[in-house]
Amino acid sequence: MVALQPNPVTLTSENPFLNHLQSFSSEIEGVLEGILPPSTTCLHQAMRYSVLGGGKRLRSFLLWTSAQLFDVAPPQALKTAAVFELIHSYSLVHDDLPCMDNADFRRGKPSCHKVYGEATATLVGDALIPLAFQTLASLDMTPEIRLELIEGLGRTIGSKGLVAGQMMDVGQEKWPRTYEGLLELERLKTGVLFEFALEASAILGHASLSERQALKAYGRLFGQAFQMSDDWLDGCGQESIIGKPCDQDEHKFTFLHLLGPDLLCEKIEATVSEAIDVLEPFLAKATPLKEAALYVLSLGPCLRRDDTGARNVP
Ligand code: IPE
Ligand code: IPE
Ligand code: MG
Ligand code: MG
Ligand code: MG
Repeated sequence: MVALQPNPVTLTSENPFLNHLQSFSSEIEGVLEGILPPSTTCLHQAMRYSVLGGGKRLRSFLLWTSAQLFDVAPPQALKTAAVFELIHSYSLVHDDLPCMDNADFRRGKPSCHKVYGEATATLVGDALIPLAFQTLASLDMTPEIRLELIEGLGRTIGSKGLVAGQMMDVGQEKWPRTYEGLLELERLKTGVLFEFALEASAILGHASLSERQALKAYGRLFGQAFQMSDDWLDGCGQESIIGKPCDQDEHKFTFLHLLGPDLLCEKIEATVSEAIDVLEPFLAKATPLKEAALYVLSLGPCLRRDDTGARNVP
């Protein structure tokens, strides 16, 4: 598992986020263990390799944490959260393929296709998607809720959602090389899944429309700050810490290329602060979600400042 690097500025004992995330990780791992088929075939072995034993589990953590705002029954919240890990893992397995980003390492170990071959890795993704929908269909919730989750997930990851973002990212669609163009690309490839993870908790919890809108906005902003931070890490991070190769985006147009490290940091900080603001209606109950947003800053450079308070950007 990739080690989470506590940043001394943001993640002191005053921000218990990492402790929460770590205990949640073992819990969600157990749920995923139960959902994934046992390793009796090569395909199942490759599916388990790609989903288990790694990843920060951010999307599922946010769903789980926001579901607590509405006292959703824990087994149903966990099962729904696991669905987001299945989908996210599929997207990474395909993202790493030679025809996509051609990345050899993921989560500190060889990418799925490096171990099992490209055909199996493609099929791992193909198999994780229906498993996710099957899992939603089997929730112990009303048919209306299950249908809303299934429809919403399909919309989120389909040709007007995550896949559309990936098409833009691999240069298969025309899009304007501008700040707005990048915002849209990153909203689609990354933001929509975060947004729907938060919305899913609102669906499970019968949230009011205004609560649902606030959580969706938080998810969208969280995803935006997170992907911006991922762009920064690609150019300025360390492979040994992030568990995947750096400089993968060298030939791509990313926020790091457009804004440079300093301005990008300012954008990340502003986005995180906006994400925290939209949670105000939930008052103190939203503290764990606010702490999660602050964590995004510690992933990248933003708060790595020297003693004078200046940013320490390489
Ligand atoms: C990687 O996501 C892909 C992006 C959207 C940037 P994560 O950084 O959440 O991946 P894991 O699950 O922790 O490996
Ligand atoms: C991945 O974005 C987004 C999806 C998998 C949908 P990246 O290509 O930037 O993610 P990394 O950097 O490989 O983790
Ligand atoms: Mg990619
Ligand atoms: Mg990639
Ligand atoms: Mg990246």
